Amino acid sequence: MSSQIPRHIGIIMDGNGRWARRQGRPASFGHRAGVRAIKVVLQACEDLGVHVLSIYAFSTENWARPRAEVRALMRLFHETMQREIDEMHRRGVRIVVSGRREELSPRMRERIDEAMSRTANNTNGVLNVCLNYGGRAEIVDAARKLIADGVPARQVDENAISSRMYFPDLPDPDLIIRTAGERRVSNFLLWQGAYSEMLVTDTLWPDFGADDLKAALADYGSRVRRFGARPVDEIAVG
Ligand code: IPE
Ligand code: IPE
Ligand code: MG
Repeated sequence: MSSQIPRHIGIIMDGNGRWARRQGRPASFGHRAGVRAIKVVLQACEDLGVHVLSIYAFSTENWARPRAEVRALMRLFHETMQREIDEMHRRGVRIVVSGRREELSPRMRERIDEAMSRTANNTNGVLNVCLNYGGRAEIVDAARKLIADGVPARQVDENAISSRMYFPDLPDPDLIIRTAGERRVSNFLLWQGAYSEMLVTDTLWPDFGADDLKAALADYGSRVRRFGARPVDEIAVG
């Protein structure tokens, strides 16, 4: 038995639409319930000693959804950031937002800048909101920075790329959880998740709570991470 706690958990918060549909309601109803689940899980992370939580809120592909749903989501993000910022700051949480800013509205960008600058010096935990985020877009953006920085080809190594990701100071995610049963990565943290442990649960995101997080940590704690190497105990038996 291991008692290891992940330092960084990433969550692909999926299933809001199905949760709403089961009750005969529009997807936006599920997204609202999804925000409540974020608050619960963030608190549970703090209680359990998980320092960084990355949440996939909106992918670079989610613009393909119906206009009304995209608008409802953007309104919800804006409203939530405005409403929760004081409490987050009081709790000492640093908020960062990963993703392409250019395609977001000016008022959303203002909220993001305000949340990030106000909480920049907090050290009690990090909430990384992945908004208009794509793992491929992040790698493309890093490649553009390499060129803008004039880095010659022979100096391009993993470190040169890692240091040009959106928030290079964050550790790689130890555990990536996907709710609602789909077994795919959907463009989430492609670079940083190279050796993340994956956990898929059938629970829909609005139903995911502190007990589900505890169960995920227990599962994580029982795993052996190899990072491609031969574990020491296997070497001992030859
Ligand atoms: C995830 O829930 C939230 C976002 C993508 C913003 P979905 O809306 O994808 O839920 P399902 O997959 O339709 O159930
Ligand atoms: C992934 O969920 C994106 C977010 C949770 C924001 P999707 O519902 O968009 O993923 P796919 O389309 O099922 O792969
Ligand atoms: Mg989905």
